[in-house]
Amino acid sequence: MGSWPRKYSLAPREVPHVETAHRRIVTKLPVPESVPVFERLERFEPSSMQGQPPVLIDRAEGWHVHDRWGNMWLDWSSGVLISNIGNSNPVIMDALREMLARPLLSTYVFAHEKRAELAELLVGIAPAPGYKAFVLSTGSEAMENCIKLARTWGLERHGPHKRVIVSFHNGFHGRTLGAQLAGGNPGQKKWIGPGDAGFVQVPFPDGYKNPDTRFELFLESLQQQGVKPADVCAVMAESFQGVGPDFFPLAYARSLETWCRQNDALLVMDEVQAGFGRTGTWFAFEHYGIAPDLIACGKGISSSLPLAAVLGRAEVMEQYPPGSMTSTHSGSPLPVAAAVANIRELKRGRYLENARALDTALREGLLDIQRRHPRRAGCVQSRGLVAGIQIVQPGTRSPDPAAALAVNEACFYKGLLMFAPVGVAGECIKIAPALDISRDALEEGIRTLGEAMDESFG
Ligand SMILES: Cc1ncc(COP(=O)(O)O)c(C=O)c1O
Repeated sequence: MGSWPRKYSLAPREVPHVETAHRRIVTKLPVPESVPVFERLERFEPSSMQGQPPVLIDRAEGWHVHDRWGNMWLDWSSGVLISNIGNSNPVIMDALREMLARPLLSTYVFAHEKRAELAELLVGIAPAPGYKAFVLSTGSEAMENCIKLARTWGLERHGPHKRVIVSFHNGFHGRTLGAQLAGGNPGQKKWIGPGDAGFVQVPFPDGYKNPDTRFELFLESLQQQGVKPADVCAVMAESFQGVGPDFFPLAYARSLETWCRQNDALLVMDEVQAGFGRTGTWFAFEHYGIAPDLIACGKGISSSLPLAAVLGRAEVMEQYPPGSMTSTHSGSPLPVAAAVANIRELKRGRYLENARALDTALREGLLDIQRRHPRRAGCVQSRGLVAGIQIVQPGTRSPDPAAALAVNEACFYKGLLMFAPVGVAGECIKIAPALDISRDALEEGIRTLGEAMDESFG
């Protein structure tokens, strides 16, 4: 065992058998034969890599995840909001096979045709003409790149004073240094030591954790922290905060855009988890009617292999000469082929439409659960096919991460797979199925979650 307590028990337990169109549980869980693999992982990996429900995934197709022992989970995780067009979508499998057959596995930044196709596709979904696309491998890298572009923008146009990056409390932008400096969870950046005055955070106007949703709070908070608008080179925000998912009020988002324009600060939207159809639009910022200068993409951009991108106004993206904004695996052929197939499929199919069509069913289903458990389901947030229920100490707004974990684990035993709860303190049960999930599968998942809540909270 690792040096930290396990989140989920590895002791196999008898659980009721389940056999429906979308779930099949026919063994003890975790499956006794799978336990040695978890133990091996604990022996050879740091504990930080543990902490997800103990399914040993053998294969994943569409909105189902299978193990080797006949169990099948209804997948409400999509990995972690990765596989927007479903797990192992055949169009992606074909694109990868085609690239393997050539064969072409690595290119650095030598040109290949698929990269040109991807860049053009990405620019095609930008909010206005005149954007450019730069491909990378991870969401954190995309955010680091946005930080670098923003700092360069401030430096070159105004001088070294214009270097402050404003982001939001409870924000998450990845686990690398810059991304964590921009993050809004103090616990996650303790390791960085004394703060960097070039990064400041302001309250996010979510309306629940912070009931004050006025844009004036943004201005007041900057003033309190001694930040002059003239020194701000960028404002960075997730289009919805993953911890909720929490959305900006429309008026706030629009005021923020105007403020950025007035102060020549770049508006950077982190779409790593929000983009590629998750909320029923290509990008979640479209709900606010704004046009960011920089857009960080990841996860659902490929629905599969590691790929990320920064999509930005050409003027911002053209700040560096050839060879100075690259990465070894920029445009790696397999992830790029996957992303091209993914974006073409998102355009061809009814994924965004389905996310919009099921918006009400998901929200109403969760609100119904909340009505049954008003003292424990503190807040329900939902848009398109991303949702969250924040579990609280009875009758309060204080997070109850242990109870959230218990509900999440109960769902796992019933054949409904979600990643471990997220949120400020691990209190948020997060829901993110594939964008083409059928209505009956979604409703079955809602019923299953409801049963788990009823059993946990009586
Ligand atoms: C909003 C957001 N930004 C950035 C990241 C970092 O992406 P990656 O894990 O690919 O580095 C994540 C990952 O969860 C995220 O949710």
